[in-house]
Amino acid sequence: MATSEEASNSAMTLVGATALAVAAARATETMRDDRLFEDLLAGQFVLAGGDQVLDWLSERTRLLRLGTGDLFALRTRFFDDFLLNATGAGCTQVVILAAGLDTRAYRLPWPADVRVFEIDRSDVFTFKDSVLSTHGAPQDCDRRAVVADLRGQWADSLLDAGFDPHLPTAWLVEGLVMYLPENDCDRLWAQIADLSAADSQLGVEYSTRQMLDTPLTQQSMLAADSDDVLHALADLWLNECELPPGEWLASHGWQAQICEIPELARRFDRPVPAAYDPTVQGHARVELIAATRK
Ligand SMILES: C[S@@+](CC[C@H](N)C(=O)[O-])C[C@H]1O[C@@H](n2cnc3c(N)ncnc32)[C@H](O)[C@@H]1O
Repeated sequence: MATSEEASNSAMTLVGATALAVAAARATETMRDDRLFEDLLAGQFVLAGGDQVLDWLSERTRLLRLGTGDLFALRTRFFDDFLLNATGAGCTQVVILAAGLDTRAYRLPWPADVRVFEIDRSDVFTFKDSVLSTHGAPQDCDRRAVVADLRGQWADSLLDAGFDPHLPTAWLVEGLVMYLPENDCDRLWAQIADLSAADSQLGVEYSTRQMLDTPLTQQSMLAADSDDVLHALADLWLNECELPPGEWLASHGWQAQICEIPELARRFDRPVPAAYDPTVQGHARVELIAATRK
């Protein structure tokens, strides 16, 4: 069994390590009395993440984190509810694309017989599974980790892992789209559609291109050295979905509903994060999409 020291030594690539930033936000949310969810494993990922976590939580990223506010907590709760509704409505498979350090397989109260597939890069699963084995992840969930590059043809890897395209599926694409070039976005939606039986559901988080230009992001970047993690992160943020996913889905046989962050913040009585505040000039938008295959 791996120790947490060994886990911290299995460093992730920068894009893989973005999952640590989300885990840190989930660990922080878990400590609140009025938390929107409880993710006890998130803190273990943070502890094992070593220097890679410190990069995300340093003074240099303070403005960026200030602008993001409760975004990660709000979107986590939104998609927790989405997935539980979808499995409650009959989806017996869940596929979490770019799962990162997502622990929903273990922490959500799934109906019996739900199978959860996670797709991500091998460096992320090496880190994640070493922490899970050290901290004794519950065994009562049928979780299957699928190593694949989501810019390519990943469907065969999912099928090889036991995915059944004839069953209604709940799909989740959270925290991924901004890292994909335009053609890869189109191919991603098309592969999901090909594998989706009727009544499948799809949750998508989509950040608009302005995310790199909000006043707080720009101030953060100006304050950082050019070789800082912030600039490396900005290079990863492509935001190249030419057609917003909600529109793509609506024109390809999905019924899509879109919720934006200010609405979600009001729903859960949280402040609207500064970067997404429509009263601030140059604000960005995040669309949280819940779609059903007609
Ligand atoms: C910001 S994290 C989000 C993780 C998770 N969805 C969440 O919200 O907690 C981005 C994740 O996307 C994964 N990712 C990015 N590009 C990918 C690709 N081409 N193929 C597979 N995974 C990818 C990274 O490895 C990382 O785990």
